[in-house]
Amino acid sequence: MKGIKIIATASAAPANSYDNEKLCTMVDSDPEWIETRTGIRNRHICTNENAVSLAVEAGEKLFAKADIDKSRISAVIAATSTPEFVFPSVACMAAKELGLRREILAFDLSAACSGFMYALETARCYIAQNGGMALVIGTEKLSGIIDYTDRSTCILFGDGAGAALIESSDKLYHHVSGCEADIRALSLKGPGDGDRFVHMDGHRVFRFAVSILKEVVDKLLSDTGLTISEVNYVICHQANARIIDAVKKKYPGQEHKFYMNLEEYGNTSAASIPLLLSEMFEKGLLRDGMKVICAGFGAGLTWGGTLMEI
Ligand code: UT7
Repeated sequence: MKGIKIIATASAAPANSYDNEKLCTMVDSDPEWIETRTGIRNRHICTNENAVSLAVEAGEKLFAKADIDKSRISAVIAATSTPEFVFPSVACMAAKELGLRREILAFDLSAACSGFMYALETARCYIAQNGGMALVIGTEKLSGIIDYTDRSTCILFGDGAGAALIESSDKLYHHVSGCEADIRALSLKGPGDGDRFVHMDGHRVFRFAVSILKEVVDKLLSDTGLTISEVNYVICHQANARIIDAVKKKYPGQEHKFYMNLEEYGNTSAASIPLLLSEMFEKGLLRDGMKVICAGFGAGLTWGGTLMEI
């Protein structure tokens, strides 16, 4: 099976942010409660930005880093639950703004917080078959679908985008994913009547998250015949530090491999994994030849994970 080479990554976040203190002027909560129960201290919130402009900003930063011939890009996939329009897609509009050629595949993908993992696998298959490079984006303006009087959700979510440019390679790559419909756990209604806010049963999602992350990591390891000691990092979707803490306890001695940045961004859904990848490359934590597990979970319920050599 063909793997991928990550040519470059980049991210974007709105300049405006709500720290816990500011958020608690809007909703009946407590800054200390939020920090101890979630690990989140801040989240970036759009003013004039939206899922397209954040995707474009991440894309522009990426092209500023990677001196590549843009005509080699054959696909743009944007994972998002908060597109500016149902159509045209974020991917289609971002492709134009980024000056990509017209003869490409460009579409949005809906798998909530697992979106980037689903998009990466879809893009990998496409370029393995058709060649070229793929721009894979996770972008969200979650502030547009959050009820800021609902303390069970508004404390968690933030806005942002991350992008990765990939091409086919013979590096190790293995993917697992799944889905199990559960509206009660986490839902957002589509166009039509009714409210347009995220609804969540926090306990239900928490329990699911801890068990599915462990299942995904174990399956990736057993399928590839690797042990967790041979993996350099485990990059999990950033939803709640307590979820990641509960998972990492199951891998004694390996806790340091579970990198987090949710303190600054909160849960940015499909953007969280590419935001992490971009930050970790920028900090020099991720280097050529390292083996990394990325694992996402979210509404659907959905989950997806990849063990890859970068
Ligand atoms: O991408 C996937 C997205 N979602 C998730 O991953 C969510 C997973 N779930 C969670 O992160 C957690 O369940 C929450 C952060 C949402 C809630 O934390 P919890 O530790 O499960 O709190 P809880 O619902 O059990 O509530 C404990 C107490 C309750 O008070 P009493 O009944 O013990 O007096 C709540 O009323 O904390 C209260 N509470 C709050 N207090 C201050 C709940 N939310 C808040 C709040 N501020 N925001």
